[in-house]
Amino acid sequence: MALGKFIGGTLVAGAAVATYARWEASSYRLRRHEAAALPEDADPLRILHLSDLHMTPRRHRLQSWVASLAELRPDLVVVTGDFLGHVDAVDPVVAALEPLTSIAPGVFVLGSNDYYAPRAINPFSYFAGPSDLHPDRPELPWPDLVGALTSAGWAHLPNARAMIEAGGLRIDVRGVDDPHIERDDYALVAGSADSSADLSLGVAHAPYLRILDAMAADGVDVTLAGHTHGGQVCLPGYGALVTNCDLDRRRARGLSRHERPLAEFAPHDQPDMVLHVSGGLGTSPYAPLRFACPPEATLLTLTPKAGG
Ligand SMILES: [Fe+2]
Repeated sequence: MALGKFIGGTLVAGAAVATYARWEASSYRLRRHEAAALPEDADPLRILHLSDLHMTPRRHRLQSWVASLAELRPDLVVVTGDFLGHVDAVDPVVAALEPLTSIAPGVFVLGSNDYYAPRAINPFSYFAGPSDLHPDRPELPWPDLVGALTSAGWAHLPNARAMIEAGGLRIDVRGVDDPHIERDDYALVAGSADSSADLSLGVAHAPYLRILDAMAADGVDVTLAGHTHGGQVCLPGYGALVTNCDLDRRRARGLSRHERPLAEFAPHDQPDMVLHVSGGLGTSPYAPLRFACPPEATLLTLTPKAGG
């Protein structure tokens, strides 16, 4: 009888947690941060950072919430991959982003889930290390996504660099293709920032240390990444359990500084690189749950460096 009550109580508690986690997965939030990274006389630069939308045609609340972010009037939008979560998601995600593509310059990279369709995965496998790419996952229509966003004026930076203008600043942006599935080729973007730029910006889907170290050594001021989902299921007071890459779990989401390696060519007079990891807005369609880790977008305001 006592055992029966215990099992019954456990099942009720588990169902309550699952119900809450399903609700939290669509409880979208805007997080705001400030970081000093600009020349002394520059006006603040407001960057809207989106990541890991994992869009499906039925995620109407996410579509309308993303569209509403245009009210923020950002100077620049950065999307760090995993736009797609369904073979028919290109049109819905492009439509959700249209209010932003129509008012602000943007840069983006893709993540593994843009290239390949989602599949069910045992969540406990993440404790064994970063997930592997399953060979049977069908390819998604990512070229259509890239075509639509680049036609709207945003820059796709898969192992590529571009000089863009945003908020009255010249920004030297370098991006790598997704390091999680080893599509990154940093050598193609390596080197110090263009001296005429006001800001050097790095973008990547997955924040693997090899990429962060390389960007920091090259003097990149600010790097933005996603992929971790902030841990997706966190313990209150402890935080993320996993990052699904080699980044430490304390930096699974939010703002931090990434130390510049002691390389011969490292610009030691610069402050450490600003790193922002987005906890992302979506989940895999097979695990639409979040706990103590609400889905988020970030408005990151860059301000002048002291004595910059
Ligand atoms: Fe993701």
